[in-house]
Amino acid sequence: MSLTYLGALLLLLSSVHATAAASIYNRRAALCRNQPGDHGFPTQAEWAQLNAQVGGRLIPAYPTAKVCAGANCTSAQWASSIYRATLPGAMNSNNWEQDYTGSGSLCLLNSNITDCGQGDVPIWAINATSPEHLQAGVKFAAKYNLRVAIKASGHDFLGRSTAKNSLLLWTQYFKDITFSDNYRIGKKDYGSTVTVGSGVGLKVLYGAAKEQGKIFVGGTAATVVAAGGYSQGAGHSAFSPVLGLATDNAVQYNIVVANGDYLEVNEFSHPDLFWALRGGGAGSWGVIVSVTYKVFDIFSATIHQTTIQTNTSVQSGQVMAAHARHMFDLDDIRAGQYFYLAASRTNSSLSLSTLAANISGDALKARMAPFLNEVRTLGAIVTPEITITATPNDIIANADFAIESVVAGVSPADAPQGVIGFQDDVSGQNLILGSRLIPATAYQGNVDHIGDAVTKILDQGIPGFLGHMVSGGKVAENANISSAVTPKWRTAKTHILLSQTWADSTPPAIVEQIRHNFTYQSMPLLINITGETDSGSYSSEADVLEPDFQTTFFGPNYARLSAVKAIYDPHDLFIVGAGVGSEKWDAAGMCRK
Ligand SMILES: Cc1cc2nc3c(=O)[nH]c(=O)nc-3n(C[C@H](O)[C@H](O)[C@H](O)COP(=O)(O)OP(=O)(O)OC[C@H]3O[C@@H](n4cnc5c(N)ncnc54)[C@H](O)[C@@H]3O)c2cc1C
Ligand SMILES: *[C@@H]1O[C@H](CO)[C@@H](O)[C@H](O)[C@H]1NC(C)=O
Ligand SMILES: *[C@@H]1O[C@H](CO)[C@@H](O)[C@H](O)[C@H]1NC(C)=O
Ligand SMILES: *[C@@H]1O[C@H](CO)[C@@H](O)[C@H](O)[C@H]1NC(C)=O
Ligand SMILES: *[C@@H]1O[C@H](CO)[C@@H](O)[C@H](O)[C@H]1NC(C)=O
Ligand SMILES: *[C@@H]1O[C@H](CO)[C@@H](O)[C@H](O)[C@H]1NC(C)=O
Ligand SMILES: *[C@@H]1O[C@H](CO)[C@@H](O)[C@H](O)[C@H]1NC(C)=O
Ligand SMILES: *[C@@H]1O[C@H](CO)[C@@H](O)[C@H](O)[C@H]1NC(C)=O
Ligand SMILES: *[C@@H]1O[C@H](CO)[C@@H](O)[C@H](O)[C@H]1NC(C)=O
Ligand SMILES: *[C@@H]1O[C@H](CO)[C@@H](O)[C@H](O)[C@H]1NC(C)=O
Repeated sequence: MSLTYLGALLLLLSSVHATAAASIYNRRAALCRNQPGDHGFPTQAEWAQLNAQVGGRLIPAYPTAKVCAGANCTSAQWASSIYRATLPGAMNSNNWEQDYTGSGSLCLLNSNITDCGQGDVPIWAINATSPEHLQAGVKFAAKYNLRVAIKASGHDFLGRSTAKNSLLLWTQYFKDITFSDNYRIGKKDYGSTVTVGSGVGLKVLYGAAKEQGKIFVGGTAATVVAAGGYSQGAGHSAFSPVLGLATDNAVQYNIVVANGDYLEVNEFSHPDLFWALRGGGAGSWGVIVSVTYKVFDIFSATIHQTTIQTNTSVQSGQVMAAHARHMFDLDDIRAGQYFYLAASRTNSSLSLSTLAANISGDALKARMAPFLNEVRTLGAIVTPEITITATPNDIIANADFAIESVVAGVSPADAPQGVIGFQDDVSGQNLILGSRLIPATAYQGNVDHIGDAVTKILDQGIPGFLGHMVSGGKVAENANISSAVTPKWRTAKTHILLSQTWADSTPPAIVEQIRHNFTYQSMPLLINITGETDSGSYSSEADVLEPDFQTTFFGPNYARLSAVKAIYDPHDLFIVGAGVGSEKWDAAGMCRK
């Protein structure tokens, strides 16, 4: 027996015999991460050492309402994702910056700044621009047993890119974009690829790819980062029926893992982690510096847009049943579609954007006609149809009437139709989502119950019923790719979200009720549409309070994901709400259960 081993054993024995008070302290110390005031929390001098290691890039993080206090930012900036991306403490949805639990530490727009709390905003952030900065941050957090958060854009719908009393590893300024015509790993040639830093927003990347005559699988948002949460969730696009999911096309991740190593992760090197990163959920594996994706030659693409207006929840339900009846109309052209119902108990608007490759505007109109004619017979008003034919890069940027805008109550009629290329995503509201992947089987046979469910959902006061027809086709054909993407994606026809919102003036106790009612009264109506008892949900657009998230987000992959996490993150440095391993921690990710 070595001396050190003996020493450790003696220490252990002495702690067993310690006083009751000390053992309670030790137990808490063993169970919890260090927070300000705790014995093990870094001193000012120790933070200063970290700051020196990262070249002076350690900066404080503040709630957005604190930065904006005293008319320091305009209301346009408050609602701008581009502005928020420059603030280490900002989340796009205001609610994730707040701590509604416990003491209720809040900092709301125009609130009294004197008692503005730090809420769930991190304390310090590393504004990283090199892997070394991230390595220093990861090692410091491990050494001092700190809570960490990782953020690229702050778009996260589950609040996973912020954490109370944490050190933030901020990757917004990894801005490199490199194209290759013959990307190689060892002897294998992957053809055309792009390697993109974990701070590059989709709109910038669409533009850069267009210059190369290329398109990648990207979503419909300006500032969602291609190599952050999007890439670990699955990553869907209106062109996924043609090109697959983003993770299906991921070739390599460059990532700093919990022990501080900077790894190249691909099908040959760390294949277990490569498998987990592709669909195993955001924020659970390490800090991504860049991702390499396959890219494709640009093709001619057309977008068709219209809105359908209704005056009662029953009429809205009838329109959605008709929509379900026509669900397979576009299968042979592998179209993708966003169908967003901005709803109220009375009048609603269904904003429809349909995208397809290699088809003319008139031909796409003809494909939409059977559905649009049916909704006209129901008394709904169809606004004039618009079609644009251009590069997929340009039209996808125009496709999404951002979810937040629908929730923020901006009429879909004001969507930037006919304008190629939006500039920004709407932010600054309080927003939660819940979602389900709806299997193709749910749309076969009689679909009247789907209409009935929509009517009931609207009657509960749900403001958004947001559909993405982004699977089938290549997504189904990619079923045998070895990745952690839940198999529910491969049999899904649509991915549907419900949203909920509240005013800043809503007291925390009522916010809790609203969230509880959303999860346990409204979501069951959506879940019922799946017709499944083990239904699935897309973890990047979902409810962080999803009761059985392990099954719902990860299905049969959860056990293997837990095993991979134990290898690469044995001490659970990277814990996010409803993420792999989070069941062992409290909701704040601060103390082990
Ligand atoms: C307007 C809008 C439109 C959207 N459209 C689509 C769409 O079309 N298709 C689609 O699939 N999704 C879409 N999403 C969802 C989007 O994929 C998720 O919100 C995603 O989590 C955003 O990733 P992010 O890194 O930009 O955000 P962040 O909030 O910064 O991070 C999200 C998650 O990823 C983790 N993360 C961030 N950066 C890193 C990193 N460098 N390394 C490791 N982990 C990291 C964070 O810890 C967090 O868990 C949309 C979201 C919004 C707000
Ligand atoms: C005002 O906003 C700018 C960013 O736009 C920020 O740099 C500055 O710190 C803010 N001022 C205060 C007092 O927060
Ligand atoms: C803000 O709060 C502080 C402390 O609670 C109080 O003293 C001050 O009067 C308040 N200011 C305003 C403008 O209400
Ligand atoms: C973060 O770093 C980038 C790149 O150096 C810089 O432009 C930006 O101003 C920094 N942001 C903050 C909040 O320090
Ligand atoms: C809804 O009601 C308004 C006001 O009566 C009317 O102008 C509009 O045409 C109606 N819309 C539909 C879809 O019936
Ligand atoms: C419903 O009608 C009101 C009044 O015309 C309008 O302000 C609102 O935007 C409409 N809501 C939707 C979801 O269309
Ligand atoms: C579009 O048509 C071109 C020419 O026929 C073909 O090469 C390309 O694969 C098609 N693209 C898609 C996405 O269907
Ligand atoms: C996946 O592999 C199985 C077993 O080889 C095969 O039966 C199935 O058809 C494959 N699925 C797809 C979509 O290729
Ligand atoms: C939540 O649901 C309960 C039961 O239906 C209801 O009484 C309560 O008013 C709801 N709370 C809120 C804030 O909507
Ligand atoms: C679920 O849907 C079925 C119809 O498919 C309906 O009969 C049943 O009432 C629904 N259940 C709930 C809880 O809404």
